[in-house]
Amino acid sequence: MNDFIIAPSILSADFARLGEEVDNVLAAGADIIHFDVMDNHYVPNLTIGPMVCKALRKHGVTADIDVHLMVKPVDRMIGDFIEAGASIITFHPEASEHLDRSLQMIRDGGCKAGLVFNPATSLEHLKYVMDKIDMVLLMSVNPGFGGQSFIPGTLDKLREARALIEASGYDIRLEVDGGVSEKNIADIARAGADTFVAGSAIFGKADYKAVIDAMRKALAS
Ligand code: DX5
Ligand code: ZN
Repeated sequence: MNDFIIAPSILSADFARLGEEVDNVLAAGADIIHFDVMDNHYVPNLTIGPMVCKALRKHGVTADIDVHLMVKPVDRMIGDFIEAGASIITFHPEASEHLDRSLQMIRDGGCKAGLVFNPATSLEHLKYVMDKIDMVLLMSVNPGFGGQSFIPGTLDKLREARALIEASGYDIRLEVDGGVSEKNIADIARAGADTFVAGSAIFGKADYKAVIDAMRKALAS
């Protein structure tokens, strides 16, 4: 796997042709697929669930599926997504009554586990569970919709998260989600991110490969 991971969010894909969209974006150079699960309760939007993840596996998708749970409660969905073929499962600390148990459930199910922090949520929780996570995901927009603008304060928070990860000594990826494009990806990487979710920046363009190539070029600069 690349040092830098590009994770297109299928939230901005054409849902009527989802299998084909996922095939195309992987053929265009995407590393993994970011899968946004929204419940119209924890966030004000409603998207896709475990059946769609299972359908993508049945379609033949072998790439990692990075499931971002924006649901409350989370535990039932964790079990369902493990069953459906998820590779990575992340959730928001505010959405789980028993964060440690939810993280444990994910790893026990053979998936990588991660916590997601909204723009104004403190990273405090991390210090107690650093040994139980594989991914820290920082939201650079308020969760619920694609196509929003990157919140600049995320850069400082990325630096803070990167320092915590380095100090822990664990092998933990630092992902960023919201408003990422080929224009700001280099600055975001410099702040410490290594995994980049991009929805509208990729699926909003006709040529996915051109965007992903431009992102890789910016990352190499
Ligand atoms: C927002 C989602 C994101 C979203 C990103 O709540 O978690 O993954 O799809 O979309 P863009 O890249 O368009 O900001
Ligand atoms: Zn997401």
